[in-house]
Amino acid sequence: MRDSSGQPASPLRVEHVTKRFRQGTTTIQALRDISLTVARGEFVAVMGASGSGKSTLLHVMAGLTRPDEGRVLVDGQDLSALSDFQLTLLRRRRIGLVFQTFNLIPTLSAQDNILLPAMAEGRERLARSQLDELLTRLGLAERRRHLPDTMSGGEQQRVAIARAMICDPAIILADEPTGSLDSVTGQSICRLLQELCAEQGRTIVVVTHEPAVAVWATRIVVLKDGQALTEFPAGDFHDSQSLANHYQDIVGAAAMEVRG
Ligand SMILES: Nc1ncnc2c1ncn2[C@@H]1O[C@H](COP(=O)(O)OP(=O)(O)OP(=O)(O)O)[C@@H](O)[C@H]1O
Ligand SMILES: [Mg+2]
Repeated sequence: MRDSSGQPASPLRVEHVTKRFRQGTTTIQALRDISLTVARGEFVAVMGASGSGKSTLLHVMAGLTRPDEGRVLVDGQDLSALSDFQLTLLRRRRIGLVFQTFNLIPTLSAQDNILLPAMAEGRERLARSQLDELLTRLGLAERRRHLPDTMSGGEQQRVAIARAMICDPAIILADEPTGSLDSVTGQSICRLLQELCAEQGRTIVVVTHEPAVAVWATRIVVLKDGQALTEFPAGDFHDSQSLANHYQDIVGAAAMEVRG
């Protein structure tokens, strides 16, 4: 799809989105007038304190949560114009999602959990031909017949990542995808995500609190209280320690401003 100026539409565009949650008599403002455009082949890392709105932003991007104000466009398509069924189809075809809590089906083996989105799309045969490589790449070959509750947290997390990749989605949205992984496995997942962007032009948004993950991104967006506090290119930093220092400076300066 193309935008109004005839240019190919950005894969992902968030425009002035606000999201409130009502809890009894109180209202929590999870996102406040946030805007973000992610280009094809771009890998964006979203950082921010717990409760700053990172998961909400990801769910809004995936059309799982409808914003109160503003809109989200996927390939130029305004999600607010779609029915729940149309949203489900768009998600299945265009978006690979890795949830913070994995959301695996407990009664299905690792392999069947991974294949599930492809089955729903009638792409099981193609997916099966890619399954072995994906399992090997994610170090899951020995666990393919295991049920989720017989796998470690890190193994379940990798199953969730494989499930998000099985349909070759143009957009991958991942919430703390390395949160349960040791640093070596986490780094290999980051390398895989970066290759998907650089070599295949995928669009990736990863929520993370780990500078060692964010350093793989092309751009880092920092959220605070549901707003984009700042953003900067990860390429400015050669290693995760200097990125961590910069991030601490930003968060520290924002805290001083609030106090001051
Ligand atoms: N379904 C919901 N109902 C009510 N409040 C919610 C709901 N989902 C999120 N919130 C609130 O919105 C705010 C943002 O939550 P969100 O889950 O987006 O944070 P987060 O940045 O992902 O945090 P974490 O790093 O802990 O995962 C929090 O204050 C949270 O309590
Ligand atoms: Mg979260």
